[in-house]
Amino acid sequence: MKIIVGVTGASGAVYARRVLEDLAAREGAVERIGLIVSRRGGEVAAWEGVGFPDNPSIVRFANDDMFAPPASGSAGWDAMVIVPCSMGCVGRIASGVSGDLIARAADVTLKEGRRLIVVPRETPLNLIHLRNMVALAEAGAVVLPASPSFYSHPADIDALCATVTDRILARLGLPHGGCVWGGGEPAEAAAASPPPSVR
Ligand SMILES: Cc1cc2nc3c(=O)[nH]c(=O)nc-3n(C[C@H](O)[C@H](O)[C@H](O)COP(=O)(O)O)c2cc1C
Repeated sequence: MKIIVGVTGASGAVYARRVLEDLAAREGAVERIGLIVSRRGGEVAAWEGVGFPDNPSIVRFANDDMFAPPASGSAGWDAMVIVPCSMGCVGRIASGVSGDLIARAADVTLKEGRRLIVVPRETPLNLIHLRNMVALAEAGAVVLPASPSFYSHPADIDALCATVTDRILARLGLPHGGCVWGGGEPAEAAAASPPPSVR
């Protein structure tokens, strides 16, 4: 499987790092990862103190390089994840403005009928954000908000991130750490020791 990962300037670069690490760890199933980081994505990641893994399976493409393979449907990428996805990027994809490689690759992924997973992060959402997300869903994208859950009793930030990133892996049809309800140990552990009641 060949997967494109786009990273844009929304908060939550840590989700991108974890997705990249998880994909790189699935060598048998994932043969290539194309990484595209927008200028703002790089700045926000640096601000949040997050670096991205260096792995032979990860190939980086510049976001202004329209000659890069992800710009073409014939390059045969199987799926694309944009994590985190800024509302600006959501809007560009929703309106078909393919002015950078991330938006172009997303456009190509949709037109080829391949899986596009968009992980937006913003709050609160205005009507333009909501309408743009509806447009993406109508076009066939999976809108998977960076909305972590707590019922698996995450012990630290990494475990909290996994409640989002495991869902991304699940949507890609890849094995994941089980941080989804009923998805494995965390949920079973939660059932075995229910949380104390919260006032
Ligand atoms: C520290 C920081 C945090 C930001 N967080 C968000 C966010 O959570 N969601 C969002 O849509 N934009 C956020 N932005 C604004 C985007 O970075 C900005 O709209 C940018 O133009 C997006 O560009 P890109 O889509 O090319 O990466 C943030 C900006 C900064 C500097």
